[in-house]
Amino acid sequence: MLRLEKINGKNVWDILKLSVNEDQREFVASNDVSIIEAYTTITNNGYVFPFGIYDEDILVGFVMIGYDKDDYWDDAPQIADNNYNLWRLMIDKRYQQKGYGRKAIELALEFIKTFPCGRAEYCWLSYEPDNKVAKNLYESFGFEETGEMDGEEIIEVLTLREQEIPTSIGGGMNCDKHGTYYVGKRTNVCYNCIHEQSYQIQSISHN
Ligand SMILES: CC(C)(COP(=O)(O)OP(=O)(O)OC[C@H]1O[C@@H](n2cnc3c(N)ncnc32)[C@H](O)[C@@H]1OP(=O)(O)O)[C@@H](O)C(=O)NCCC(=O)NCCS
Repeated sequence: MLRLEKINGKNVWDILKLSVNEDQREFVASNDVSIIEAYTTITNNGYVFPFGIYDEDILVGFVMIGYDKDDYWDDAPQIADNNYNLWRLMIDKRYQQKGYGRKAIELALEFIKTFPCGRAEYCWLSYEPDNKVAKNLYESFGFEETGEMDGEEIIEVLTLREQEIPTSIGGGMNCDKHGTYYVGKRTNVCYNCIHEQSYQIQSISHN
């Protein structure tokens, strides 16, 4: 049964040990780089949700979801505005071609469709032109090329279907539960509530 677990002070050390095959290294940043990017996103008013991918208790990969852009992403593609981003995905070389990548995308999309940072029309991603495995995998979920590029990478976009927005995340100047700890330039969503949302997602799993 596959599940996503929010990155934390304990699992981060195992996540840092995950790696892809030599010939795949050009396709994805290493997890230490991704986690540094997650940190600078959070410290610059951005949103990011990094997760370990677990089969029961076995850590098999890493996935990172983004929303919109932080204050310093000057050359962000237009599609980044107000949309979610399947930002990083890797399955450790020991566990590839067992169906984990496909199931991890399903879980990531389920998480995105809870709209933790507010409603959005699209989920987008990008991949290196040579990464045919990723291209085929993403397109099997309905992602389509738009002609836009993110640097050297091809951008693909998926339209998010209308979903009920969970009522568990609230806005306003105060959070009843957590006081006044907020993030967000476009939504007044309590940071702690967002993370509870992430914890809740841990219970979503697939056989
Ligand atoms: C892309 C990646 C996440 C796929 O993960 P995975 O767990 O191996 O994928 P799955 O086992 O779920 O397979 C998904 C599909 O891809 C195919 N596939 C996976 N690896 C393949 C390979 N090396 N060669 C050919 N096909 C492959 C599978 O056959 C399957 O096809 P199907 O669903 O049509 O039958 C993994 O290869 C990876 O981490 N690659 C390096 C990092 C990377 O490229 N990340 C994406 C960056 S944009």
